[in-house]
Amino acid sequence: MKKILKYLGILIAIVVLGAGAFALYINIDGIPTYPKLVKDPGITIKGDSAMLENGERLASMLCVQCHLNRETGVLTGQYMPDVAQFGKTYSANITQDKTYGIGARTDGEILYLLRTGVKWNGDYLPPWMPKFVHMSDYDLQSVIWWLRSDDPRLKATPEAATKSQPNFLAKFLTHVAFKPLPYPDHEITAPDTSDHVAYGKYIVQGKIECWACHSASFKTLNIMEPGKTPGYMAGGNPIPNEEGKIIYSANLTPDDSTGIGKWTEEEFVKALRFGMRPDGTTNRYPMVPYSRMYDWEARAIFAYLKSLPPVHNPIQRTMNP
Ligand code: HEC
Ligand code: HEC
Repeated sequence: MKKILKYLGILIAIVVLGAGAFALYINIDGIPTYPKLVKDPGITIKGDSAMLENGERLASMLCVQCHLNRETGVLTGQYMPDVAQFGKTYSANITQDKTYGIGARTDGEILYLLRTGVKWNGDYLPPWMPKFVHMSDYDLQSVIWWLRSDDPRLKATPEAATKSQPNFLAKFLTHVAFKPLPYPDHEITAPDTSDHVAYGKYIVQGKIECWACHSASFKTLNIMEPGKTPGYMAGGNPIPNEEGKIIYSANLTPDDSTGIGKWTEEEFVKALRFGMRPDGTTNRYPMVPYSRMYDWEARAIFAYLKSLPPVHNPIQRTMNP
């Protein structure tokens, strides 16, 4: 008996030490880097004015909120309070500056980074910088075409963004859960816009990525197969607002009492584009009004959401704490 207890003791000590060593390793190693995965697919984007317009509109909905310095109106990066759970986070300078921004990067390098999360130097972009795995080639290339434009927000600005200080959770998750994503080996096209349900799904999963906020948690996202994410589109994801208070994302499945089952298309479009909910209250940050969304896009999203199975999941609207 004594012997067994002794072995058990040793075993526990080994496990505890092992876990401690792993934690120490993660803390020192930080966010992993993947120099061997760095690739430049060698694409040079040849856009036109339609692509520029498309890219500007998409970037306004997708990139500006995180990368804009609100004081200067230029995309040199800023502090991001919404991801405080992962440490002190700053977004990057994505202006055309050749040293501090992305002016010296090739189209291919940027495309590769936006798809896989792996930067030209092998750094892995942490979970809070979205990866655009399911966006169509046309839409993603439009964004990059816009990044090369003379939009004043992109003016070369020699200003180093503050370096993020990821905490243990961020380092841990990037070791065990969030990994570089595969660069697609085939062309990605968007569904036909006349197929509302399919196009709505494309917006939700690929173009704007509503699903990432509107499922159960950032920690359990299934990036390759969004539909298999726990609590897909049923809300409840705890997201800190600008003051660090928790706002839970809304249930967008067509459940009558806890989702949008009783909403009309008009009500949905108004909530999405202008932030006004049917009960007269407004959507709070981080749900920003998608005023640049076309009416028909908002309607396509509604058609898709209506096609989902209703999930009963009451969401707390009061702030926490
Ligand atoms: C939710 C916030 C968020 C959104 C949305 C976002 N980014 Fe980022 N991005 C970040 C953060 C944070 C980093 C810096 C990560 C780090 O290294 O700490 C980053 C890094 C980058 C980098 C790497 C730059 C460098 O020098 O390291 C590029 C390029 C970039 N983002 C482009 C984009 C583009 C283009 C879009 C829109 C399609 C976009 N980002 C949307 C937060 C965001
Ligand atoms: C950055 C995270 C985030 C993204 C991205 C996001 N949402 Fe939201 N959304 C939220 C949060 C959080 C709320 C709850 C706001 C509140 O309680 O005031 C919300 C609320 C809503 C509501 C109100 C529903 C209700 O019952 O109150 C609608 C509609 C909505 N979102 C649709 C969308 C659609 C469609 C997209 C994609 C085009 C999207 N959201 C993208 C976080 C997000």
